[in-house]
Amino acid sequence: MTEPVLSVRDLRVWYGTDRGPVRAVDGVTFDVRPGETLGLVGESGCGKSTLGRGVLGLTPPAAAVDGEVVLRSPGGAGRNLVGLPAKEIQRLRGPELGLIFQEPMTRLNPLMRISQHFEEALRAHHKGLPKQEIKARALAALRGMGIPESRYGSYPHEFSGGMRQRIMIALALVLRPAFIVADEPTTALDVLVEAQIIKILADLRKNFDTSLVLITHNLGIVAEACDRVAVMYAGHIVEQGDAREVFANPQHPYTRELLRSTISLSTTGLHFIPGSPPDLVEPPQGCRFHPRCPVAMRGCATVEPPEVVLPTGVVSACWQQAIEADPALADELGPGGREPLAAVKEISVADEA
Ligand SMILES: Nc1ncnc2c1ncn2[C@@H]1O[C@H](COP(=O)(O)OP(=O)(O)OP(=O)(O)O)[C@@H](O)[C@H]1O
Ligand code: SF4
Ligand SMILES: [Mg+2]
Repeated sequence: MTEPVLSVRDLRVWYGTDRGPVRAVDGVTFDVRPGETLGLVGESGCGKSTLGRGVLGLTPPAAAVDGEVVLRSPGGAGRNLVGLPAKEIQRLRGPELGLIFQEPMTRLNPLMRISQHFEEALRAHHKGLPKQEIKARALAALRGMGIPESRYGSYPHEFSGGMRQRIMIALALVLRPAFIVADEPTTALDVLVEAQIIKILADLRKNFDTSLVLITHNLGIVAEACDRVAVMYAGHIVEQGDAREVFANPQHPYTRELLRSTISLSTTGLHFIPGSPPDLVEPPQGCRFHPRCPVAMRGCATVEPPEVVLPTGVVSACWQQAIEADPALADELGPGGREPLAAVKEISVADEA
């Protein structure tokens, strides 16, 4: 098997706040191979954007980062991006690392024409590139996104939100990075343009072996465009593996709930996951999903579940699968630890009554 282009090991990102550190990414491990697309899904606020930025060394200065993010160029040795000086990371951005942001308007300079954005991006990484060549490359990237050439000299405010989003994507792609994080790249777009962009991203990996981490709320896009999927809950990846396998046979109770809450043509009613995502300053003890998990056991409320690699290659962090794989692990939950948590809650309420 080819070596991963990116190996993330035990990555942690904290934001300092008045209430204490927000543990937005808390011990995340995954690999991305050349030409592979990994879909990153999970409820709002679970840490997806923070993870995407952490991987690219783009977290705000006040955030603390720990762990390892090893980037390998083809045939080259890997280097850990965590702790690398900002200047070094800046050098890698563009030719090796690309980011398509969640909020395009905050990233385009309103005082600069689109042509100037392209000139700046290309000059920063390909010094001495003639103006004609810059224009040719920029126009090709814009055409790929369905933006007419005649708009090359326009300012950002002269475009619609969806067009600005496509310009942002063209700006990231024009440098043909080996590895891209695309954070909700299609949220502002209509379905037809969305399909077009997903196709462009797919062509990119086919033709240039570009690897992609695609952050999205749209599970349909993941099913269609991703090789693998990672499901995030409260700063952790709770399940990851082959996208088809995870969609056909979700293992982690949170993945099952997340899939049930999406709308499909056969949906007759909407399913919501009861409760709300936890506070990342003081996340629940044990399994972070236990207050909302329909199959939580007593021990889940105190002991964190281990990650288990299942025979399908899917990795899940849930006591149910851990005990199925190795029944001896049940001891770690302590006496009565396998009793259903709901029943325990009911008994204590009854006792109080
Ligand atoms: N600069 C910051 N300072 C403090 N807390 C932050 C900062 N940025 C994000 N957070 C917090 O970190 C957590 C994760 O945020 P993040 O933006 O990574 O979530 P997300 O999964 O991308 O959400 P969404 O789906 O809404 O984009 C949230 O609780 C958020 O409030
Ligand atoms: S570890 Fe327990 S609470 Fe967490 S998902 Fe699995 S069963 Fe539910
Ligand atoms: Mg986000």
